[in-house]
Amino acid sequence: MRNRRKIYRTLHKYGEDILRSDSFQQSREYVQHGTFSVWKHSLNVAETSLKMSWALPFRFSEKELVRGALLHDYFLYDWHEKRVGVREIKEFYKMHGFTHPAIAARNARRDFKIGKLENEIICKHMWPLTIMPPMCREAWVVTMADKYCSLLETFHLVKGDLCG
Ligand SMILES: [Fe+2]
Ligand SMILES: [Fe+2]
Repeated sequence: MRNRRKIYRTLHKYGEDILRSDSFQQSREYVQHGTFSVWKHSLNVAETSLKMSWALPFRFSEKELVRGALLHDYFLYDWHEKRVGVREIKEFYKMHGFTHPAIAARNARRDFKIGKLENEIICKHMWPLTIMPPMCREAWVVTMADKYCSLLETFHLVKGDLCG
């Protein structure tokens, strides 16, 4: 309970502008994994990143960690949306994994004040698809937290509702 309060306080301390923005709230409408919206997934990743950073014996820039984690999937479209034909849909699914970090980073730079560290976190969170590995601890933590949360969400190992 104390930990939950600490997580809530830390997320709001560093990410209040993001959490309150219409554009971030809009990601409640986009499906990420299973029944999880991009909004809920992003909160899960931010929360897990904080917990991991608190458990590790290293120093982390908490502000950048929170902001990068919240915005790591800030691509602002529904990647499950059926587009044209079956072939195009398959291609799009494949492409999304490679392209969405750069799209999310561009949107984040446009809508919020983010620095080099947040940019690195967002751009590298799909490693090893990015080939170039993360260059800072914060980006490594978010990359790992993202994979962990995605696994739990995809296989329904945690509860979560769209628009929750
Ligand atoms: Fe992602
Ligand atoms: Fe993600």
